[in-house]
Amino acid sequence: MDSQVKSKKRVADHGEVFTAEREVNAMLDLVKQETERIESRFLEPACGTGNFLVEILRRKLAVAKRRYKRSPSDYERMSFIAITSIYGVELLQDNVDECRERLFEIWDGEYKAVCKKECSDECREAVRYVLSKNILCGNALTLLRVDENGEDIQNEPIIFAEWSPLMGGMLKRRDFRLDELMREQSDSSQMTLDSGESHLQYSESENAYIPTPLREFQPTFYRKVQENG
Ligand SMILES: C[S@@+](CC[C@H](N)C(=O)[O-])C[C@H]1O[C@@H](n2cnc3c(N)ncnc32)[C@H](O)[C@@H]1O
Repeated sequence: MDSQVKSKKRVADHGEVFTAEREVNAMLDLVKQETERIESRFLEPACGTGNFLVEILRRKLAVAKRRYKRSPSDYERMSFIAITSIYGVELLQDNVDECRERLFEIWDGEYKAVCKKECSDECREAVRYVLSKNILCGNALTLLRVDENGEDIQNEPIIFAEWSPLMGGMLKRRDFRLDELMREQSDSSQMTLDSGESHLQYSESENAYIPTPLREFQPTFYRKVQENG
């Protein structure tokens, strides 16, 4: 069986055909500068096992290594920021698990190569925690979470954490509903807002609806994000 296909049934049921590395790279080259900006955020809807996301991570880590390889603590912090910038939604839980694992292995391989004896398990745990929040099982069409059969869970919107780096390695987390982030992108004059449930606020200066977070967290040192959840 072709490595782009796991089974004929999965192709028939879910259109699961993974993109080959050559095409992934050709497409990412169209936005090359962004893929090499460590903090630039990417969301891949229907991410499969993460073919695009792993390549984006590789590119960001290569930049981090070039700039910070002589300072393990700076490399660790910047490679962590790279992880926080990568998001995916995928219908099938096994693909979600594989995607998180691939991203972790790529991050950890480079982490060991650069930071050597200065690697810390606390940082690894923090990276795994971020991946559990950034790569989610959900339906990219309805923007709802899904159960183990890939069925929508009503009233459970996909919620993503935004991680914003502050001074001194501190990180600020704010959680947003993906449907509201996407509505921000659409033409606000065409938009009808849900009643009281909505977290969108109209900004006259921007002439747009701005999503407000569902939840804000106290700033935390990046290695300790998992203690703040
Ligand atoms: C054509 S594959 C592409 C995977 C990946 N983007 C790539 O290029 O390798 C489509 C993927 O979308 C998933 N999928 C299908 N319908 C989906 C939906 N409504 N929401 C999220 N994921 C979906 C499938 O399980 C499959 O992994």
